[in-house]
Amino acid sequence: MAGSVSLVINGRRVAARAGQTLLEAGLASGRAIPHDCATGQCDTCRVRVYSGTVDDAGTRVGDTVLACRARLMTETVIEFDEVPDTVRRSGTVGSVVPLTPDIVEVTVRLRKPLASLPGQYVRVTFPGCPPRDYSPTLRTDGSGELNELIFQIRRLNGGAVSSRLGERIGAGSDVKVEGPFGHAFHRLGRGRLVVVAAGVGFAPAWAVARASRLREPERDLVVVAGARHAHNLYMRPALEWLRDRGATTILTCSGANPPEDARPGRPTQHLPFLAPTDTVITAGGSEMVAAVQFIAAAAGATCYADPFYSAARAETAKLPGELNFIQRLLQRVSGPQTPKSQPLT
Ligand code: FES
Repeated sequence: MAGSVSLVINGRRVAARAGQTLLEAGLASGRAIPHDCATGQCDTCRVRVYSGTVDDAGTRVGDTVLACRARLMTETVIEFDEVPDTVRRSGTVGSVVPLTPDIVEVTVRLRKPLASLPGQYVRVTFPGCPPRDYSPTLRTDGSGELNELIFQIRRLNGGAVSSRLGERIGAGSDVKVEGPFGHAFHRLGRGRLVVVAAGVGFAPAWAVARASRLREPERDLVVVAGARHAHNLYMRPALEWLRDRGATTILTCSGANPPEDARPGRPTQHLPFLAPTDTVITAGGSEMVAAVQFIAAAAGATCYADPFYSAARAETAKLPGELNFIQRLLQRVSGPQTPKSQPLT
């Protein structure tokens, strides 16, 4: 008969038996781990193993395993992410401020705060406009209030929403917000954190990097951020804030005539060598994000991705069963991704 072992789930010790899956042990003890398929397909039950030895059943990515497949062998400590509930809120636009010729900073003041984790996103609806997904962040000087949602949004010519920002949508406009959503949020960890962003993908990246500096100042942090056009490198003050607090920062510019403080090329050309102990969070255009996912997967690093799609593409995004092998592989590496409708970077 299998022997008793102790299992600690998010700080709570429960009785378990060697040979049980982590999911079975959690359910039997009343400490359910979020799950869905229970057959190793959906990635919903991925948990981090802090200590102990489990039979990972081939599901290990970095220090994570699938709880529905991995089996207990010895005393083990695991953790999963508890995310805030999705809620609906209303508010008004406080301001629309140009950051660059293409990018605006929109501040929304909510009547009641909306809890989210740094790096998550929310669905925003302005009157008469289709909903759009934006990632709450801080201003580039690090400021922001509890009841405020601050977005950095690229304005697109003819964009159903973004082209109206600062025009039909301005201070005093009503806003409806739903969320939070998304898996590419800040998690406390032991290994190095590498944050990679392009364009307005810097919005969630900045939220994640700043949270890491404030919550785990001893952790190694590398931030690689860039834009195609030099005039859209709006992230300099935020990078300076991070640098002042010990982070390594790299600014890139893939267009012609990069400024002196930026390296020429895309963020993917300037990543540090990755190791299996690294955690990578990447946000921005879907192709750049996919490239980062591949590089992270090749190194065995844990990667959480927040790819931005055009609104039209998000609406026609493929269902899981329609994904090709490479796309399914990326989902296994980075977890399931909700099609997110944000202007491309
Ligand atoms: S519950 Fe779906 S992979 Fe474990």
